[in-house]
Amino acid sequence: MKIAVIGGTGLIGSQVVTILNANGHEAVPHSPSTGLDLLTGRGLPEALRGADVLVNLTNSPTFDDASLGFFRSTMDNLLAAATAAGLGHAVILSIVGADEVPGLAYYRAKVLQEDILKSGPVPYSIVRATQFFEFIDAAVSETADEKTVRLPATLVQPIASAEVAEEVAEVSMGHPLHGTRNIAGPDVFALDELGKITLAAHGDHRIVVTDNGAGTFAATPHDALIAKDGAVIAKTTYQEWLAR
Ligand SMILES: NC(=O)c1ccc[n+]([C@@H]2O[C@H](COP(=O)([O-])OP(=O)(O)OC[C@H]3O[C@@H](n4cnc5c(N)ncnc54)[C@H](OP(=O)(O)O)[C@@H]3O)[C@@H](O)[C@H]2O)c1
Repeated sequence: MKIAVIGGTGLIGSQVVTILNANGHEAVPHSPSTGLDLLTGRGLPEALRGADVLVNLTNSPTFDDASLGFFRSTMDNLLAAATAAGLGHAVILSIVGADEVPGLAYYRAKVLQEDILKSGPVPYSIVRATQFFEFIDAAVSETADEKTVRLPATLVQPIASAEVAEEVAEVSMGHPLHGTRNIAGPDVFALDELGKITLAAHGDHRIVVTDNGAGTFAATPHDALIAKDGAVIAKTTYQEWLAR
């Protein structure tokens, strides 16, 4: 199949392109650096011409209220072009439990992205993943100063981006789910404990202070981000990934 991977130069997108091509498909990465701007629609008809499937792995440049506008405009443009091109399958990547965290603008934006896809005319699949291992450093440093790192005890179940990419590629090669597949890492951590493991692995001697009001994940209900019933559970543990 010919598969247009929008956001195909990003962390997940670049891995998805590699997996799809290794499976005998013709996956083409698209992004602003290749001439496609999903916000304006520039280059979109050309990117979708002759494609059987599109995979949208773009990300908003900010995680604040502006992300709602980003996902609304990009999805409206995408669905209009996909409908015109007669595409048979559109795939997006969202976040496990996003609908349970209305206090975070970015999570509301991901639910909006899902809702636009679900209510559109194009057969679709949604993959929802938990937080990537690659994202943990940013979560830890968000509330850090020179001596301490403040983190809430929010439960998380992080996953290697490589295994998210495998799942997205598998779904993209199959029939539309007309629904959602959840994927999560093998272990549940309290974020403050995960912070301690992460700092120790980096030889960073700062102290982790448990603060349930600190940082992005303070707004998260206790178990909202944990794997739901029926979720695919990935194999790679955080400790294995850190040791690579
Ligand atoms: N981080 C997490 O823990 C997590 C968890 C679950 C789900 N997700 C979701 O996973 C998805 C992919 O994340 P990621 O970390 O792979 O993102 P990323 O590395 O930031 O890559 C984003 C991609 O989007 C492209 N892009 C940005 N603006 C664009 C535009 N206007 N038009 C076309 N392409 C545009 C970028 O192109 P350039 O490289 O040219 O800028 C890049 O290819 C996101 O939707 C995110 O919500 C993330």
